Amino acid sequence: MIELTFIEHNGEVHNVRAAPGTNLMQAALDNNVPGIDADCGGSCACGTCHVFIDTSWMDKAGKPSESECAMLEMTPEKNEMSRLACQITVETPLNGLVVKLPEFQM
Ligand code: FES
Repeated sequence: MIELTFIEHNGEVHNVRAAPGTNLMQAALDNNVPGIDADCGGSCACGTCHVFIDTSWMDKAGKPSESECAMLEMTPEKNEMSRLACQITVETPLNGLVVKLPEFQM
């Protein structure tokens, strides 16, 4: 199992464990982490699984696809740490990943 930490905008911390091969959005939903809406169910079509990942983890998280980048462009809170959680596969190199959640999903 992969250990992940989600931190809500209000600072509340959720330590969860996820099976390798799932995606970050599903790991949050499976563990009742609030703050991810995932309206499209993981199809990279809604942008409501927006999260912030420290830049030091970006290489391990993999590069965002063109469609993910396009979707992120529509996210008002986007910054250099932005990713869509449904597009990140949870694998062993991400063990210990810390994920910050935005105040709102748009
Ligand atoms: S769940 Fe819709 S873009 Fe990730």
